[in-house]
Amino acid sequence: MSFDTLRWRDGRLELIDQTLLPVEEVYRSYDDYREVAKAIVDMIVRGAPAIGVSAAYGLAIAARQALEAENFSSYMEEAYSVFAATRPTAVNLFWGIERMRQKASSLQDMAPSVIAAALEEEAIAIDREDVEANRAMGSYGAALLPDAVNILTHCNAGALATAGYGTALGVIRAAVEAGKRVNVYADETRPFLQGARLTSWELHEDDIPVTLICDNMAGYLMKLGKVDAVIVGADRIASNGDVANKIGTYSVALLAKAHSIPFYVSAPISTIDYAISTGEEIPIEERSHLEVTEWGGVVTAPKGIGVWNPAFDVTPAEYVTAIITDRGVATAPYGDSLLRLKG
Ligand code: MRU
Repeated sequence: MSFDTLRWRDGRLELIDQTLLPVEEVYRSYDDYREVAKAIVDMIVRGAPAIGVSAAYGLAIAARQALEAENFSSYMEEAYSVFAATRPTAVNLFWGIERMRQKASSLQDMAPSVIAAALEEEAIAIDREDVEANRAMGSYGAALLPDAVNILTHCNAGALATAGYGTALGVIRAAVEAGKRVNVYADETRPFLQGARLTSWELHEDDIPVTLICDNMAGYLMKLGKVDAVIVGADRIASNGDVANKIGTYSVALLAKAHSIPFYVSAPISTIDYAISTGEEIPIEERSHLEVTEWGGVVTAPKGIGVWNPAFDVTPAEYVTAIITDRGVATAPYGDSLLRLKG
């Protein structure tokens, strides 16, 4: 891969600025945890696993900053809540924060400098494990696909949404590595254009054939028989298999069902929220109206009208053919199969 989504260099977090892709490849460097949290809010880094890993590194930075503070623990408590307030839907964020918090509390009797060093190691481990999980999902997922396959994907669930390789795009990469002939259709993914700007960019960088379509073209594409499988990522999966993912995923799932096309979700175990029973409990982020009424500063809708901009939707489990995780493939009934994978 020709780029890094995020990297840890000499105690600083470097992020490729995803708001500038595909026009410019700019890396931003962070040594203040509040700036990392702002980068998550501003979508410089986005995608559920990438947000979780960035928050973990942000907390490693916070721990170093806390060494200068009056009270190490209360400084860290504040940092945990700053990250928890960045984006509400992707559960990987809260999973990452919790893992860092548990690491810190397991060492609470140690000197703050020891805790800070351990938190840096923990963030590096979370980063490495994310790539390993993506590779595992890749091999489980690729095995489900025929030797020649046209895949539709929505949003960006690629290397850019993770520490590397990707979840949905990880399955696609693994299928290509296994010698399968893969052709990808990428939904542009209004309003933030993650499909147009990010998915098509990273697949093209890897020489994987990709064709960009507007979101409203997916139904016709399926009707013409040009899609053999849909693969998407997830921001949070409830215990019953309901899947929250980028707005528009639900519509794609309904279209896939109507055309008898398998609809796969690829996500690590850290995306499964075992604490909630159904998708109704998943908080859905609403973002600025300007994402809908403007692009790149150009106004595309009249001022003064009503605008609604939910960033995610929930696809009921009944529309999901299988959930590909790093511990294996879950199928309906998801209540049982996801619980078995929890271990
Ligand atoms: O708002 P975003 O760009 O963070 O939304 C990202 C998605 O919805 C992805 O599909 C999801 O996080 C899975 S990423 C492996």
